[in-house]
Amino acid sequence: MKANIVTLPGDYIGPEIVTQAVRVLEAVAAKYGHTFSFDERKLGGASIDAFGVPLTDETLAACNGSDAVLMGSVGGPKWDGVEAARRPEKGLLALRKGMNVFANLRPCRIHPQLSGACPLRSDIIAEPIDILILRELTGDIYFGRRSRSEDRLSATDEMAYSATEVERLARIGFEMAAKRRGRLCSVDKANVLECSRLWRETVTRLSAEYPQVEVTHMYVDNAAMQLILRPSQFDVLITGNLFGDILSDESAAIAGSLGMMPSASLGAGTRGLYEPIHGSAPDIAGRDIANPLGTILSAALLLRHSLGLEAEAQAVEAAVARVLDEGFRTADIRSEGTKVVGCTEMGALVAERI
Ligand code: IPM
Ligand code: MG
Repeated sequence: MKANIVTLPGDYIGPEIVTQAVRVLEAVAAKYGHTFSFDERKLGGASIDAFGVPLTDETLAACNGSDAVLMGSVGGPKWDGVEAARRPEKGLLALRKGMNVFANLRPCRIHPQLSGACPLRSDIIAEPIDILILRELTGDIYFGRRSRSEDRLSATDEMAYSATEVERLARIGFEMAAKRRGRLCSVDKANVLECSRLWRETVTRLSAEYPQVEVTHMYVDNAAMQLILRPSQFDVLITGNLFGDILSDESAAIAGSLGMMPSASLGAGTRGLYEPIHGSAPDIAGRDIANPLGTILSAALLLRHSLGLEAEAQAVEAAVARVLDEGFRTADIRSEGTKVVGCTEMGALVAERI
């Protein structure tokens, strides 16, 4: 098949990790006879430096004209002084909103080779952990009105959700749960927030249409605790934008390293935005030591969800597993007796094993 992929390397380690993911996608194209074209654009700080804004209309149009978008990471100290409306993160939020990718999939699995990196007790992770966090991505307090009083001494951020927004996210959650282990946990703060009461009502209403899925509701504070106490109880977890942001970082700690975590953001069609869940890691940028596996695994999700290439997606995941089996590690996931390699070499190792 032919596919047009926009790449948005972004800032600091972003270009290093995206280069390696593109190399793996090129290996996939060569092996399976596909033609992938890559259209590299600027996002975040890189775009501020070049065009004065973190996302240009032209870049957004290119993304919306593509089959899929592969992103690195944005932001960093270089742009800390930039006013709020033009910060690098604003570019990412505008991109998510502009592509209307409202469903953010953040899978959390413990790679058996990395179980030593999980901070939880071994009896807690003895049962298999395979959680799909589905985070709503284009609503919530992230996109509500913000204000600051004239004296600058009080501030407001508005949290807002519509039933339509909750419903379209929840439907994806029900469908994914039905294809997995049939359990959906909806996480909210319905004992306090009106948005959460709407969330819970909507999920409850929809549950009648999915009798094969067992639904539970959990308050977010309890969910944060349960993820640590008994992570194996979760199958699909659906939640709002802010809670999902927090819980997915927590799940990354369970998986052993933020550097390993991929994500996919989907809308109504197949076009999606793929990015590792970690940030731009300014402290290690330019030293070729970043872990490209989160981005490479995001590329696997791109093959699966946007291009419908399941065998190719599995080939990438299997290649990553093999490289780990063979004992290769980037510095963030190193342990006794493993071979530490840099970002470029890790990408090359995975590409070779395709
Ligand atoms: C994430 C990040 C972003 C978010 C930031 C960079 C705006 O933390 O993708 O989880 O909060 O969504
Ligand atoms: Mg986050």
